[in-house]
Amino acid sequence: MKRLILPGLLVLLVVFHINSQSNNPNYKISYDQRIKELLSKMTLEEKIGQFNQLSNPYHKTGPGIKSERNESFDEMVANGQIGSFLNVLGVDETMRLQKIAIEKSRLGIPLIFGYDVIHGFKTIFPIPLGESASFDRAVMEKSARIAAIEAAANGLHWTFAPMVDISRDPRWGRIMEGAGEDVYLGEQAAKARVHGFQGDDLSWDNTIAACAKHFAAYGASFGGRDYAAVDMSERMLREVYLRPYKAAVDAGVATFMSSFNTINGVPASGNRWLQTDILRGEWGFDGFVVSDWNSLGEMIYHGNVESEYDVGFRGVDAGIDMDMEGRIYINQVKQLLIDNKITISQIDEMAGRILLIKFRLGLFDNPYQYCNKQKEKELTMHSNHLSASRDGAKRSIVLLKNKNKILPITGKVKRIAVIGPLSNDKDAPLGNWRGNATPNSAVSLLEGIRNIAGNKYEILYSEGCRLLNNKENSFASPVLINNNDRSGFKKAVAAANKADIVVMALGETAYMSGECRSYADISLKGLQLELLREIKKTGKPVVLTIFSGRPLVLTDAVDHADAILNCWLLGSESGNAIADVLFGDYNPSGKLPASFPYHVGQIPVFYEQLSSGRPYDPKPDSLTSKYRDIPNAPLYAFGYGLSYTTFKFTDLKLSAEKISMKDKLTINVNIKNTGEYPGEEVVQLYIRDVVGNGVSRPVLQLRGFEKIMLAIGESKEVTFTITPADLAFFRLDETWGPEKGKFQVFIGNSSDNLPLKGEFELME
Ligand code: BGC
Repeated sequence: MKRLILPGLLVLLVVFHINSQSNNPNYKISYDQRIKELLSKMTLEEKIGQFNQLSNPYHKTGPGIKSERNESFDEMVANGQIGSFLNVLGVDETMRLQKIAIEKSRLGIPLIFGYDVIHGFKTIFPIPLGESASFDRAVMEKSARIAAIEAAANGLHWTFAPMVDISRDPRWGRIMEGAGEDVYLGEQAAKARVHGFQGDDLSWDNTIAACAKHFAAYGASFGGRDYAAVDMSERMLREVYLRPYKAAVDAGVATFMSSFNTINGVPASGNRWLQTDILRGEWGFDGFVVSDWNSLGEMIYHGNVESEYDVGFRGVDAGIDMDMEGRIYINQVKQLLIDNKITISQIDEMAGRILLIKFRLGLFDNPYQYCNKQKEKELTMHSNHLSASRDGAKRSIVLLKNKNKILPITGKVKRIAVIGPLSNDKDAPLGNWRGNATPNSAVSLLEGIRNIAGNKYEILYSEGCRLLNNKENSFASPVLINNNDRSGFKKAVAAANKADIVVMALGETAYMSGECRSYADISLKGLQLELLREIKKTGKPVVLTIFSGRPLVLTDAVDHADAILNCWLLGSESGNAIADVLFGDYNPSGKLPASFPYHVGQIPVFYEQLSSGRPYDPKPDSLTSKYRDIPNAPLYAFGYGLSYTTFKFTDLKLSAEKISMKDKLTINVNIKNTGEYPGEEVVQLYIRDVVGNGVSRPVLQLRGFEKIMLAIGESKEVTFTITPADLAFFRLDETWGPEKGKFQVFIGNSSDNLPLKGEFELME
């Protein structure tokens, strides 16, 4: 009987913890007294031990550093020389190491176990970029909540997520890990994800510490090459790139990770202005900062310091508390203190910040609360988690094109041909930062279609061509594209000829985006475009589903497809979610979180442009800001996404024509479903600060969105509130705040479709 009741109870607990709200987050509680007492008992070596984070040597997520060293982790833990592990997971191993820390080390200080739980632990959700296309805060929070439940049940205390780096360069492989190009969407995603991981109380046994990364501006590297330098004005940094990190601090994020890049010549991991003055001084962050994987040691390669000793000094001085896998602090900090380069109070502050998070996690009260075999078994890949993954996945799909309303697939269709190298790929949808997912465990598109089609439709399948020549799927393996094997084309064309409609799956595998996976050419790789053209020649309607970790350049593909669904890498339930949309069980509602370039030469490509002195004019004889060979506009703009139904926006009302610096402005708008399907719409609010008093302002800035459901014929009023704080920027005198003057308001359903316009004035 007990066995039957328990899963039910656990379901209740899962649901309870997903929905619960409280006003007194434990992660704000201070543990000053207990930390002081503990520090007074710790030796210098034990304090330095807290700074040392080492990776499981069999599961490295970065280049090997000094892995040949004769280290005995067990001994080091017993000696208090390790404060944290990464890439060690599972109840058995975390419990074993934690026991050594608690029972064998002098003061019994618990370890903290960190892992990259980026978009799910075992149940995989859409990649963060894809999930951001849902424009749905609840969806983002829920996937992080469930990821935390599964990770915590597997012995983990800490995730290296969310990545809140804005990126306007789809060549950068890590664009998949963030919320895309926009400040406001980035802020909303950061808050939702931090709250999802951490819940209201970090000490619960199913919440984990989040980590806002990579501080700062990692997504703006030159040329979109990973690890390359970043150089930008302080205005751009503060108005765009820093804002989602600040939102994470406001949401109570427990930790930060410094980035690999230099910024304006100074490595972020040795940058006191960023890691201390701004993060702690201006924003009041009280958690700890971990370096990225040996990002301290890499300062030597940046050429700004000569030795590990100097690196140690720069790291401590900047305010980096924990050294990930670099072994710099464990080897250098003591000598730095002896030489009076750093002070004991700096060391105490660093150790204190790490201990604070361990306290908040409840590890001092019950170091084994995350070590529960029963929970590990019951909660990992719980069926509720899989259905949440399917739900989030279908909400993340973006309908880019739907000529002649060929979607959704209706009863008139009898035979469906499913074609393309990704159509039966069970691995690609998991993405590369896939937690502890089982390889090849996603529902493929073909399986999803079969699951829904049942006996109603006949399904023909043909791969058409292979995307890769190698089947190797590892962190470092090169991706060898198939550029010459067309042997499958004939069978694919034959399948298309027999079918009433063709559904193709093209794009990227899991390992074509992510860390160290930048590409200069981001169009469809290998023979995919050629295959698409051959299939289109059959004259059959073609639905193209695109799998990718980034916005691809689809310009050459668009005319060969009647409908296009951008399906990102959607996680464990990918195929089922896509099938839900194909057959109309779910009406697509996703919107692009990043512009899809018309041509790679437009990059960086984003809507929040500053106005030019010679704004775009397509006339050939006009001397204005434009390309001579391609349009300025992207192929698909930020915020764009179609639905099976249509919506009409009317009745824009502003509560006042003028507001003071202490007022709020209320904006109301009416939206009506004017089409033939019930559906959701993302109502988007943009502003433009008409005159910036000495500073140029962007032509459009997203400052609000609401996703609403409307039945056929139904209307709803949506209300937005704008405060002067929403209008703030980095002013000419380098202070932060709003300036009086005129503002325009735009409402619509994409940054390039804003039918309603209003105006108000901000007064002193
Ligand atoms: C990545 C981080 C990640 C870390 C640990 C680094 O290479 O940049 O995002 O958290 O490895 O896996």
